[in-house]
Amino acid sequence: MTAEEFIKELDARNQELLRRLEPEATLKPEVEGDLNVVNLLKVALKNEIEASEIAARWMVTTDEVDVKLAFARQVGDEARHYRLIVERLKELGFDAKTFNPLAKGYGPLFDYLRTLTTTAERAAAGQFTREAIAIVKNRQFIEFCERAGDRTTAALYRDVIEPDERYHHELGRSILLRYATTHEAQEAARKTAARTLELAEELQAMALKTAGIHHAPGC
Ligand SMILES: [Fe+2]
Ligand SMILES: [Fe+2]
Repeated sequence: MTAEEFIKELDARNQELLRRLEPEATLKPEVEGDLNVVNLLKVALKNEIEASEIAARWMVTTDEVDVKLAFARQVGDEARHYRLIVERLKELGFDAKTFNPLAKGYGPLFDYLRTLTTTAERAAAGQFTREAIAIVKNRQFIEFCERAGDRTTAALYRDVIEPDERYHHELGRSILLRYATTHEAQEAARKTAARTLELAEELQAMALKTAGIHHAPGC
């Protein structure tokens, strides 16, 4: 099929599976302490640094210049999200300067994504699918913040972070349009998207079981 048909099909399948993540969804099981905005933002720091680092690794191991630049943009955006979240945490009374979200290691999704080697696989998993998951999770996190009366954090996600994550999803779409043009590339891309969603579901189930989390933001 053409790249366009492929993306349409992939999008439909993703959206169908994403509905299973709603409404009680999360990517991360490792919140420590109470389920509140501060602790969820600490989980967000881990997601942001992982997303930035994956894009950085992929940037240096990509030959196509347009793809390099797409990853470079994402590296910077995720790092900016990290900084904005640190600033918000400070306002909420938590000094993140000495906090290392990677102290206990990287998560399973990071470990999976780092193994991907082709542009179509990376764009399908890391951008098109992961960022689609982030859009769902951020919507839930915004609602959580609003229910908790934290309109500032809700606005940060709604007005600043969310539009970037949406843009990353669209970057994935445009890369796939250019590089998922063969049957082999499309097959490989389909598999990595499915695995990414599977990992998200597994992590969600684990998070619900172990920590009762269902609102951790994604990136
Ligand atoms: Fe992102
Ligand atoms: Fe982000």
